[in-house]
Amino acid sequence: MGSLTKTHAGAAVAAPDTLTPKIQRSVLSVENLASGITAFSLPCGAVPELLGAGKRLFDRVKESDMGRPHVDGWIVEELFARQAQLAVLLDRQQVIGIAHYHKTGPDAVTIRGLAVDPRYGRMKLGTVLPAIAVAHAPLVFDEVRRFECSLRVLGHAANERSRASFERIGFVLEEPVGISYLDGSHHNRDKMPTAEIDGHGAFIRYQRMTSTDETSSRAARFLQDWASDILPFPAAAS
Ligand SMILES: CC(C)(COP(=O)(O)OP(=O)(O)OC[C@H]1O[C@@H](n2cnc3c(N)ncnc32)[C@H](O)[C@@H]1OP(=O)(O)O)[C@@H](O)C(=O)NCCC(=O)NCCS
Repeated sequence: MGSLTKTHAGAAVAAPDTLTPKIQRSVLSVENLASGITAFSLPCGAVPELLGAGKRLFDRVKESDMGRPHVDGWIVEELFARQAQLAVLLDRQQVIGIAHYHKTGPDAVTIRGLAVDPRYGRMKLGTVLPAIAVAHAPLVFDEVRRFECSLRVLGHAANERSRASFERIGFVLEEPVGISYLDGSHHNRDKMPTAEIDGHGAFIRYQRMTSTDETSSRAARFLQDWASDILPFPAAAS
């Protein structure tokens, strides 16, 4: 991964002294040297403040026009039950991006809950998060051979920003398009207004993206390049 990627507790994390030695070894971080924006991958319970701030960012994005049609809600207890890892982006102690990932099946890892603060859009941060997950997952889970994610299909196309973000590190869209019925729960009730309806109820279309043989090396190269990218200034808060 090169000298810019290091395994440590993370100076920018709020309470690194509270991490146990085992958890310290399971944290991966990459810093963008010009801006100080840092990506971390770590167990979901390692730093409760990060989990709380990440969830607040996710909920804010989920309630926005950009996020509402595309993301399911997540609840903290489920992350613990799945032994999920977080991928987090920090700018001066502020969480500006979040995703989580967990093992699904004997050799697959699913990446979910991807959200970037819209003020930080177009900085490829939506790729940094899955890239650090791809880089870190084999260090924390056994038998990782495949990564996948699920994208909402609206109209004729899968979530374009997500597709572009995952494609940069070699994920490909899978056929066919699937459908999923909504149960109106916390997870998916915000998708009701944009859902389709048939005799069984409201449903959405989705398409999976899966990693390829190139994904690990592309993720590593992407993180290395991103570490020295000159990023634009974030947009002003609206
Ligand atoms: C998906 C998401 C994480 C991507 O974050 P991001 O890195 O800031 O994404 P960007 O704004 O850089 O967009 C990525 C690419 O999408 C495309 N894109 C951006 N804005 C677009 C728009 N309005 N319409 C179509 N394509 C667009 C561009 O190709 C862009 O790449 P480029 O800047 O190199 O041209 C972020 O948009 C987000 O939080 N969306 C809401 C939640 C969501 O959809 N999560 C994903 C669930 S699977």
